[in-house]
Amino acid sequence: MNVKELIERLEMDYKGKHGLKAKVLDVIERKTRVKDDQKLSWPLTLLYEQYSSSSNNTTTSSKSRLVYGMGRPSSSSSPSSSACSRALWSGKFEIDSRTGFVPWSRPVTSLPLAFARWEQALATATIGGQVSLADLDHTQTGTSSQKWREDIAKAPVLDITPLEQDPALLRRAHHVLAFLVHFYVHSTPPDPSTTSILIPKSLAVPLVNVSQKLAIAPVLTFADTVLWNHEIIDHSLPLTRANIRPLTLFTGGPDEANFYGCCAEIELRGVEALRAIASFYDMVSGPGGKGEGNGEKDDEGNDADIDEEYILEQAAECLKIVAGVIHDLSAILQSVREICDPHAFYFAVRPWFRGSDAAGPTQQAHWSQPRWVYEGVSESEHQKLELSGPSAGQSSIIHTLDIFLDVDHQNSGHQTEEDDKSSTPLAPSACPHAKLASTSQNSISSSSSPTSRCPQAATLATATTATVNLKLPNGEFMTRMRRYMPGSHQTFLEQLTAYTHTESQRRSIRQLASRHPDRLMGPYNEAVLALKHFRDLHIRIACLYVVSMSRKANGVPLHGGGANTGMPSMCPAMRQRQRQLEPVRGTGGNELSLLLKSCRDATSRTVLQAN
Ligand code: HEM
Repeated sequence: MNVKELIERLEMDYKGKHGLKAKVLDVIERKTRVKDDQKLSWPLTLLYEQYSSSSNNTTTSSKSRLVYGMGRPSSSSSPSSSACSRALWSGKFEIDSRTGFVPWSRPVTSLPLAFARWEQALATATIGGQVSLADLDHTQTGTSSQKWREDIAKAPVLDITPLEQDPALLRRAHHVLAFLVHFYVHSTPPDPSTTSILIPKSLAVPLVNVSQKLAIAPVLTFADTVLWNHEIIDHSLPLTRANIRPLTLFTGGPDEANFYGCCAEIELRGVEALRAIASFYDMVSGPGGKGEGNGEKDDEGNDADIDEEYILEQAAECLKIVAGVIHDLSAILQSVREICDPHAFYFAVRPWFRGSDAAGPTQQAHWSQPRWVYEGVSESEHQKLELSGPSAGQSSIIHTLDIFLDVDHQNSGHQTEEDDKSSTPLAPSACPHAKLASTSQNSISSSSSPTSRCPQAATLATATTATVNLKLPNGEFMTRMRRYMPGSHQTFLEQLTAYTHTESQRRSIRQLASRHPDRLMGPYNEAVLALKHFRDLHIRIACLYVVSMSRKANGVPLHGGGANTGMPSMCPAMRQRQRQLEPVRGTGGNELSLLLKSCRDATSRTVLQAN
């Protein structure tokens, strides 16, 4: 049987049972990237056989059904049983069943001719290497950068109407313009006579217009640097990390490319968790999905009750899949240490990411940390602009896992006295410079005493303890980071949150696990602890790549010292900026240690406690 024949058979066999047919087709699409007349390999034929018999027979292995995202058994041909999966993969949210939040379609690598001016400016900045970071521009003349900026300042404001109907073109336009804005700002030598920097209207106006269409922030985002920043190396092969390379880099170096690659791999690996989550919601959302014998009938008049045993088995299976994926995400995150040098990351890559508020929300604007002013954008509109810059905190897959597992970054719910005990100050153990008191990756409480002699670790610990009574920054940060995601992904996360928490939270896996602790508390906590472990690891990495490096920056010589010391040399503005940035801050100016610790602790608090 070839694919075409199989589809015809499905058309006949599943007439009127669209949900199941769509599911089978989806599996086929995911499992094969084949031409119509290509012969099917045996697993697909088997799959077809399996599901053609399962439409009348519910004895097919439930485990394989969940793995393939096939929903629940009896009455499973009812359309509502797969409504979640269908909605998820429908295209409405721009989420693909093979690549998740990374668009499946071949990325546009160049805009139409009318926008050649933008593409040319980007090519000059990247390929020509003429536009360098002002911080590290030892000559302080930066003549080629200056010429490049002058050309941009003189350029006309282009009308984006020709791009509006095509999301792929809009994405490319956002990518190009946002990179140009960051190239422009960070190649500009600091000017002590002013506390703001003007971004010319030739960039600012179209970027704001394109961003409105995409419902995304008008600044460089995770989407620009990761989701939309790749070209396929071999078109006959699937979209995997090994088969993509970044389109645009600030530095042109492998450290930056590998950082983006690592983030992209996390997105791609996360797709299996997305599929398992969708299957879980399919199961609990269909008629009878409350896991109680409620006597409901499905659309075909069948008894809609489904076996509670089945629900619990499937929920446990789903949690197992999710935990396994998160463990893989940690391994991918850890791999960054081998392929991205912390010095290169901190001194050569990260400075390009800084947004308008890197000094912190309450900090006065300073010439070394100027506020961005978008020329040609009205004052009232300007106030609403989100200009923080890119962060992996904008990764939708991590937000999805938080929602599914019910991690409460707002610190408003499911906190008990017991939970409080697990919310500890940022363990210095999180820092690679600390001698780890606690070695257990999965321990709920990380209450290791701050015994480290490492100044970085001490600062982290002090900062945390001193601010323990202040409002935690993670809720606000995570909410704000959503505004830097493409609008369709924001909508998905909003709807997922609403969907999980409506109707007395009957779709919340946390609630289900707390109602059935004997069956689900173990698998649930395993998934949550996997996420906590991811965040522990992430704190160590942030400490190594950002906190430690910022301390080293104070020892970095001014002009000329870089070549001999292996460290880049800094211009005075960078020194000044270092001082301005104490304590170490992340995207949006949040105090880094507090922020990451709060996210990790919110995850710890999610763990269910045995009564
Ligand atoms: C060298 C690698 C990395 C470094 C140095 C790093 C650093 C940071 C920093 C400094 C923050 C604070 C906010 C900000 O400044 O953006 C942050 C937040 C965050 N990062 Fe990373 N990151 C790295 C890799 C990743 C990867 C690969 C992911 C996964 C996609 C990730 C996910 C997150 C998330 C979800 C947050 C929000 C806080 C949280 O949920 O715990 N990071 N990261």
